Amino acid sequence: MYKVSETPLVSKEEIEKRLIVLAKEVDASGEYDLVLGVLTGAFIVVADLVRNLSCNPNISFIKASSYGNSTESSSVVVQGLEKLCLENKRILLVDDILDTGKTFFALVEQLKKLGAKTVKTCVLLDKPSRREADIEADFVGFSIENKFVVGYGLDYAENYRSLNGIFTLEPSE
Ligand code: IMP
Ligand code: MG
Repeated sequence: MYKVSETPLVSKEEIEKRLIVLAKEVDASGEYDLVLGVLTGAFIVVADLVRNLSCNPNISFIKASSYGNSTESSSVVVQGLEKLCLENKRILLVDDILDTGKTFFALVEQLKKLGAKTVKTCVLLDKPSRREADIEADFVGFSIENKFVVGYGLDYAENYRSLNGIFTLEPSE
């Protein structure tokens, strides 16, 4: 069994401070028509990031689920794209964490296929040591070690999303 760490890996205050700077970096990189969050994990980071942006983009969410394991090539199933008009749009794709990179790799490809003009990517957390797909995020809040983390939108079996900082899951005695 697992329990949540007593002290956060990244505190609420650290996230708040970093998002102000990250939003400035996003603003400095150009204009965006649409901020597109990946459900469910990105719902908090999108809400906090967009309120720090000077530009005033539209906001939408899609759902991405990956299937497969190491013995088969995993595929990413995306829901919600069909309702969006992406033609010629400058998109900022936002997720809670970049792990193997398979989700973002597949999403960026699909958004471009659907006519997006530009696709930039933003994550609160990055686990570079886990990367399998050839992708890096344009904007990263915090780069972390290979630890499973929860809170601030991130879950373990749908639990812990509402914690206001990032915590690690540790084996309980
Ligand atoms: P990727 O395709 O491997 O990059 O997967 C990214 C997705 O995996 C994220 O959107 C999260 O839903 C999930 N994920 C990866 N690492 C963690 C973690 O440490 N905690 C919770 N969810 C995670
Ligand atoms: Mg996710």
